[in-house]
Amino acid sequence: MSDFLLKLERITKVFSGGEASLDVLKGVDFTLGYGESVAILGASGVGKSTLLHIMGGLDRPSQGSVLYKDKDLQKMNANEVSYWRNHTLGFVFQFHHLLPELTVLENVALPLMIRGVSKKKAIEQSIPLLESLGLGHHFEAQPATLSGGEQQRTAVARALVTQPEILLADEPTGNLDRKTGDQLMDLIYQCRKLCPFALVIVTHNEAIAALCPRKMTLFDGQLCET
Ligand SMILES: Nc1ncnc2c1ncn2[C@@H]1O[C@H](COP(=O)(O)OP(=O)(O)OP(=O)(O)O)[C@@H](O)[C@H]1O
Ligand SMILES: [Mg+2]
Repeated sequence: MSDFLLKLERITKVFSGGEASLDVLKGVDFTLGYGESVAILGASGVGKSTLLHIMGGLDRPSQGSVLYKDKDLQKMNANEVSYWRNHTLGFVFQFHHLLPELTVLENVALPLMIRGVSKKKAIEQSIPLLESLGLGHHFEAQPATLSGGEQQRTAVARALVTQPEILLADEPTGNLDRKTGDQLMDLIYQCRKLCPFALVIVTHNEAIAALCPRKMTLFDGQLCET
């Protein structure tokens, strides 16, 4: 068995558009152990979302490698990466990214259906999770009719319904008030007791970062232990 879950080696990311190019990541090394929780801090625009997207196979680095155990994401094609993501990761985005045309329950069930689970079974598995996240009375709601906190709890349910090994969360409380944000974090930590996923959480919030035993800061394209 590999002694790490995820390993990023010398990751660079350059966005080039028109004449200017932007060196966002300049050689990031990062290792995530089994069940570990890590907070990533850093100023706005420093590249935290870019880094998380690369960790989760949603974006490719310009150079460097992303390893999951003994697998190199760079050697996988797009379908293989999607399969890997669906079977390994939960992702909570900075903005919830729920599908507006689906109900809350359908949004949560979708990752299971993508795996090939029947709609009936996917719905059955989604219901208790939504109930444990306090959304039992919103199954049939359209995401747009929910509050910001409820939308993010739905996004957390969607990320956890597949019982992922790794949860990547990009400022999940960034658009919530303090109390709602704290409640969301409590729920994430309660879920972790049932399904002990490794957690990488991007946050501006020092109190949330303090919940993680390991804190890192992204600054000038480099990731350092804080
Ligand atoms: N697809 C893209 N094309 C060009 N530039 C991009 C792209 N994605 C991100 N950038 C740029 O890369 C930089 C880092 O963006 P990123 O979203 O990763 O920052 P962030 O640290 O997550 O910021 P915030 O805290 O505001 O969410 C920004 O200057 C952004 O404009
Ligand atoms: Mg961001």
